[in-house]
Amino acid sequence: MKTLSASFDRLPPEGLFLARWLKAPHRIGALAPASRHLARAMADQIGPSEAMVIELGGGTGSVTSALLDSGLDPKRLVVIEHDRVFHALLTRRFPLVTVIRGDAADLRALLAPLGIDHCSAVVSSLPLLSLPKPQRLKIVAEAFALLGERGRFIQYTYGAFSPLRRRETGLKGEVAERVWLNFPPAAVWRFRRREAIEAA
Ligand SMILES: C[S@@+](CC[C@H](N)C(=O)[O-])C[C@H]1O[C@@H](n2cnc3c(N)ncnc32)[C@H](O)[C@@H]1O
Repeated sequence: MKTLSASFDRLPPEGLFLARWLKAPHRIGALAPASRHLARAMADQIGPSEAMVIELGGGTGSVTSALLDSGLDPKRLVVIEHDRVFHALLTRRFPLVTVIRGDAADLRALLAPLGIDHCSAVVSSLPLLSLPKPQRLKIVAEAFALLGERGRFIQYTYGAFSPLRRRETGLKGEVAERVWLNFPPAAVWRFRRREAIEAA
């Protein structure tokens, strides 16, 4: 009998994405994967010599691929993905990267067995605004508990406004880049702790 992930093998990333969206629209949060332009704009926020980068919501791997293409060492990248089909796909596609299946709201518990308690950047494709508020705030709190003082949380959004509200999180965000060559057009946001910005 064919396994679930094998039955998705023949689908192109766009078809697979749509199939997973039909199953859990709020959790997938988009009708199509990030374009290579959007994926590159996300990777542009990351330097090749980062201590440790955590990617949240790897999906079909477009951002993962752009991060590796930009020179990031696969040993310094961990991807968290909730969906089992996407998790299986990412594991096959990126054998040198650690891909963990789980909820980003449990980030520290997921990383603890690997001995990871710190990272320099979090790169997120999560549909933050479609997630319930307690889960969204937990994800952000978990990410910033790992991020050092100068750590960045990078997030793309299709919305016109910030994907993280300052009054909910106390974080300072700015648009790092707008990407028109994506469906729909997107903005890459960069968030840091307010104190880190004020001290800079
Ligand atoms: C917009 S899609 C990611 C698209 C990805 N950048 C791509 O181009 O394929 C959002 C992803 O976040 C994952 N996701 C949603 N909620 C999650 C959670 N709480 N923890 C981990 N992954 C989650 C979904 O399964 C989906 O793969």
